[in-house]
Order: sequence, then structure tokens, then C-alpha cells
Amino acid sequence: MPENDELLNILREAAQASPQNVALQKQFADLLLEAEAYAEAETVYRHILSLEPENQAVKFALSQSFYHQGKEAVALVILERLLVMPKAKGEWHLLAAQAYWRTEQPEQAREAYRQAVQRDASLVDVAFATEMGVVPLVEGDTAVQPKDGEEETAVLLPVDPPEPPPHSEIEQAKISFKDVGGMEKLKEEIRLKIIHPLQKPEIYQAYGKKIGGGILMYGPPGCGKTHLARATAGEVNAAFLSVGLHDVLNMYLGQSEQNLHGLFELARRYTPCVLFFDEVDALGANRSDMRRSAGRQLINQFLAELDGVEQSNEGVLVLAATNAPWHLDPAFRRPGRFDRVIFVPPPDTLARHAILQLMLQGKPTDGIQFEQLAKKTVGFSGADLKGMVDTAVELKLQEALQKGVPAPITNKELMVAAKKMKPSTTEWFNSARNYALYANQGGLYDDVLDYVKTSETRSLGAKLTFWRDE
Ligand SMILES: Nc1ncnc2c1ncn2[C@@H]1O[C@H](COP(=O)(O)OP(=O)(O)OP(=O)(O)O)[C@@H](O)[C@H]1O
Ligand SMILES: [Mg+2]
Repeated sequence: MPENDELLNILREAAQASPQNVALQKQFADLLLEAEAYAEAETVYRHILSLEPENQAVKFALSQSFYHQGKEAVALVILERLLVMPKAKGEWHLLAAQAYWRTEQPEQAREAYRQAVQRDASLVDVAFATEMGVVPLVEGDTAVQPKDGEEETAVLLPVDPPEPPPHSEIEQAKISFKDVGGMEKLKEEIRLKIIHPLQKPEIYQAYGKKIGGGILMYGPPGCGKTHLARATAGEVNAAFLSVGLHDVLNMYLGQSEQNLHGLFELARRYTPCVLFFDEVDALGANRSDMRRSAGRQLINQFLAELDGVEQSNEGVLVLAATNAPWHLDPAFRRPGRFDRVIFVPPPDTLARHAILQLMLQGKPTDGIQFEQLAKKTVGFSGADLKGMVDTAVELKLQEALQKGVPAPITNKELMVAAKKMKPSTTEWFNSARNYALYANQGGLYDDVLDYVKTSETRSLGAKLTFWRDE
């Protein structure tokens, strides 16, 4: 098209003269895309993203330019990030479907296509759907109906895959390891076990190391297990899917298994994804202990999903947390399943310092001595520290109401609040003790024993009863 060429040249010159003008750059790039000058369009879209890294329309356009250059895999990397956004558009899903189809991932292609037409019925593409082998729309299905007077064409929709249970939601984690105070050993373990294998699979394969398997975190309540799982997702820019027991258990026969399958499928669709099971002991309680157990069927289903029996778990990072690891069926700890069991202790001094800083962020404060506070809160969990800050805020509020003048929170209120509180983690250690001493399956709970022997914990001696009678 000659007029188009001319317009392109004009825009190219203008764009070169004003590299910071996003609207102009975008107009130029869109025209390039239309003119099928995909490589040049790619360069300009990349440039725009360096100016506006969060521009979703530009990200989608960039994925289009990759797709049309035959770089479907790169296009998919961008698209998969876009598709987890709450307002993902039908056309994004459609392009993903095409890219999946071209890269021989038919399952994902059909699912993306289904998502596309569900969002935007005008995207129905009979030829493409037929090629993918999706079945015709069944009669009475209201998803896509020909309008009155319109000629009836064969409308095609794929069969539904199992639906995840209603409450589950994929989220984009906003925190990363930098928001987790202390816990360096844990972070390192997570990096080695699941982050590096995700980012550099070829190195692991070269050493014949099998990728897969999850990490089980255990420890006293309120000490950052959930926080760390969420931060792991943020660290690798993966989607985060947190599953509580209520998401899975259902009174109807077979429905819990279906729910569980649906959740794994959801995670597999949005890889890379951190799939996090909270209170996993309730789900996977020892099969011989059926009073606590959610049922043998459900456990077997869980094990099969973890093993990736039917579908591959590539790109799905499985984390789980529990306060009572001793109730978990040992089958969960076999290689390829939760083969790393990590103790998450109460936050150390450094972590308490960081947690307090995070919790006081945005509040009016004056002269807080974080180091002193951190030293005075040995044994406090993250949740305890939160309680302490809340108490200090209340104290200040009362004072402000009495005096009629608002004032910032100071070290004084925080120290008073700290003295009012008892660390909540001691109770957990008292029961963990029995397991660590008498049922320490192959040294599984050695870390708990080590922890309670450290000098910091010793200063809690009056409250912790167990190592005194050792
Ligand atoms: N290392 C840490 N850095 C920053 N914040 C933390 C840290 N540890 C805990 N917190 C904060 O403490 C609170 C409790 O942590 P979290 O909910 O992750 O505990 P949990 O171990 O999952 O507890 P539960 O066993 O009860 O589920 C959270 O609000 C979290 O923000
Ligand atoms: Mg938790």
C-alpha cells in the first residue's frame, strides 16, 4: 500500500525526532504491525516498554510481533504473564491459543481458545476450532447463540475441563524475598530447590538431576510460612495460587478429588505458578489415622497430582505449610513429592527488626529504636509483633484522645506493648518437643532441637520447659 508506506515514513521520522513521545511511538509501532513489518514493530514496542514497563496493550502488541515472526515461545512468555491479569482480554487468550497450537501444546490451546470465546463471543473461529478438534456447542448452551435472523452456522466450543473450586484465585504476588526479613537459610534452600531448576533447567538436567518435588514448611503459627510462599512467587514473577483446606474439602463423594484436580490444572495453566497448600496436614493426614484424615481417596489423588501422573507439573512450584508435620502421611515425603522438609523458626533478631519496620511503615512514628525492640522480643512470632504494634497504636490513641492532640508513636509505647505480651511460639515448641525427642523420624526434626539449643532461645528458658529437663 503506497499511502501506507508514505505514512510510515512520515511517522518513522517523527518517531525518531521524539523518542520519548509514547503516543507517537505507539502509533508508529501499530502501523508497522499492520504493515506486517514485525521485526521493526518489535523494536519500537520494546522501546515503548522501556518507557512504560507496565503498559499491557503494548505488551500484547509486542507478543503479536513475536508470534508473527515465528517466535511463538517468546510470545507465550509475555502472554502468560498477561493472562493472569484480572482483566485479561479475549483476544489475548486467542493469540495464546494460536501460539500454543503452533508449539504443539493442544491442551493449552483448546483451553485458551475456550477462555477467549467465553470472554468475547465474536472471537469464535470455526476453522481454527475444527482444526483443534473441539466439539460443537451442545444444544441449549447459551454461551454463543446465533442472533435472530442470522444464518445458523456451526458454532464450536471446547468441552469444559474440570473447574477449579469456586474460591480459588490466581494472584500476582506483590512481595518478593526483599520483603521477608532474615530467613536467609530458608531463602537459599528455596532458591536451590525450586527457583534455579525453574530458571536453569538445562544445568540440572546436565547433571542428571530430576526437577520437581515440593518443599514442606513447618513450624509454630504466625512465623512467616505463608508470607514466604507468597514472596517466592513474587521472586520469580510467578503466579500464586494459595489453597486452604476449605477450598478442597467437599461433603459430596468424589467432589473433593475433583476440586483438587481442578486446582492443579489451574496451576498448570498459569505456569510458572507457585501452588501453595496451607494446613496441608489436614489434607494429607496419615492414612492410618483416619479420624484426622480427609480420606484415603483424596490422599491418593493428591499423591498422583504431585507425581504429575496424568499431566506434567513443569513450571508448577509446589509449596506447603503445616503446624503439625507429624500428622502428615509419610508417603508425602517420598522423592519427587515434598522431599524437602524445612523448619521455619520464629523470626530471629534481624527478621524481627525487618518485620517491625514493615509494620510501622506509613504510620506516624518518632524515635523508634528498632534494634532495642528486636532484642526485647525474643520468641515473638510475626503475628505477635503485629499484636504488639496494634497495642502500641491503641495506647497512643487513648493518650491522644485524653490530651486532645494526636502524637506520633514512640519507642515507649512499643516497649510497654512488648512487656504486656507473651511470645505465642512457646506452646508449639512444648508439643514439638515430644516429636523431636521421641519420634524424630530419621532426624526429620533435628532443626527444631538445634533451634531450641541456641543461646537466643535459652534466654527464654523460664518459658520453654523442655530443654531444661534434657
Ligand atoms: N520474616 C518476615 N518478614 C516480614 N514479615 C513477616 C516475616 N515473618 C512473618 N511476617 C509477618 O507476620 C505475619 C504472620 O506470618 P504468616 O501468616 O506468614 O505466618 P504463618 O507461618 O503462615 O502462620 P500460620 O501457621 O498461622 O499460618 C504476616 O503478616 C507476615 O507479614
Ligand atoms: Mg499461614
